Amino acid sequence: MAGYALITGASSGIGYETALKFAAKGQNVIIVARNEEKLQQLKDAIAAQYPNVDVVIKVVDLAQANNVKALYEDVKHYSLQTLVNNAGFGDFGSVKDADINKIQTMLHLNIEALTILTTLFVKDYENVEGTQVINISSVGGYEIYTAALTYSATKYYVAAYTEGLDVQLRDKGANMRAKVIAPSSTKTSFMDRSLDTEDTDYDAYFDRYNTSEELADYIMTLYDSDKHIGIVDDDTLELKLYDHFYPVNTFGADQ
Ligand SMILES: NC(=O)c1ccc[n+]([C@@H]2O[C@H](COP(=O)([O-])OP(=O)(O)OC[C@H]3O[C@@H](n4cnc5c(N)ncnc54)[C@H](OP(=O)(O)O)[C@@H]3O)[C@@H](O)[C@H]2O)c1
Repeated sequence: MAGYALITGASSGIGYETALKFAAKGQNVIIVARNEEKLQQLKDAIAAQYPNVDVVIKVVDLAQANNVKALYEDVKHYSLQTLVNNAGFGDFGSVKDADINKIQTMLHLNIEALTILTTLFVKDYENVEGTQVINISSVGGYEIYTAALTYSATKYYVAAYTEGLDVQLRDKGANMRAKVIAPSSTKTSFMDRSLDTEDTDYDAYFDRYNTSEELADYIMTLYDSDKHIGIVDDDTLELKLYDHFYPVNTFGADQ
C-alpha cells in the first residue's frame, strides 16, 4: 500500500503544487494549513486527477507548539513515507522596526514546528526504507539577506539543521534521508504575507521568479535524487544539487 506524504502549508503556493506532485507519484497525502476551504479545493483537484489517492485534510495552526504535537499524534497511525515541512512566512524591514508578535509567530512556525515534526518523524521512521523529510529553507538560508534578516536567520537554521540531520542519519546507517531545498523568488502569497500587503506585483518587484509549480518540480527532483541539498540559483533560477554545503563537525557523534 502506498505511504502518505505529510505536507504542511499545502493551502497555497509551493505546498499546494507539491501535494499535487506527490499525488501524481501515487503517494497519499495529508495536507495541513489553517485555511480549510483552500485545502478542500486541493482535495477536490487531487480527487479529479488522481482518484486512487487518499487525501486527508488537517486544519491546524502550526505556530502553536501544542497543535504540532497533537497533529503528529493524530496522523501517526497512517503509514508515513514523506514529511515536507513547507509552511512558513517571512518578514521584511529593520530589526528595530520589527513587529514582535509577527516575528515570534514566524520563529514558532519556521523553526519550532519544523523541528518538532521532524524529530517525531525521525523517532518513529528513521529505520523505515524509503522515508524522507524535505525541509524548505530559502536562498536566504545560504546568503544573509539584511532586508529580511530575522527571516533569513530562520532559514539558516532550517538549512543547518537539515544538512546536519542527513549526516547524522547516514552515519548511523539509518534508512531515512533528510533533504533541504532553498527556493529563490517564487510567485506565491509569500510576499503579500511577508510585507503585509495584498496582490504584490511580482513583475514589478523581481527581475525573474519561479512559479510554484516549477518549485514543486524542483522538490520532486530533489526527492528522487541521491543529493541532499537543492539550491535555486538566483541568476538562472535553475536548481543546483549538492552533497555538502556547510561544514559539518561530527566530533562526539559516536559517543
Ligand atoms: N515564495 C518565495 O519566494 C519563497 C522563497 C524562499 C523560500 N520560501 C519558503 O517556501 C515556503 C512556502 O511558502 P510559499 O512561497 O508557498 O508561500 P505561501 O503561498 O504564502 O504559502 C505558505 C503556506 O504556509 C501556510 N501557513 C502559514 N502560516 C501557517 C500557520 N500558522 N499554520 C499552518 N500553516 C501556515 C499557509 O496556509 P494557511 O494560511 O492556510 O495556514 C500556506 O499554505 C515557506 O517556508 C517560505 O519561507 C518561499
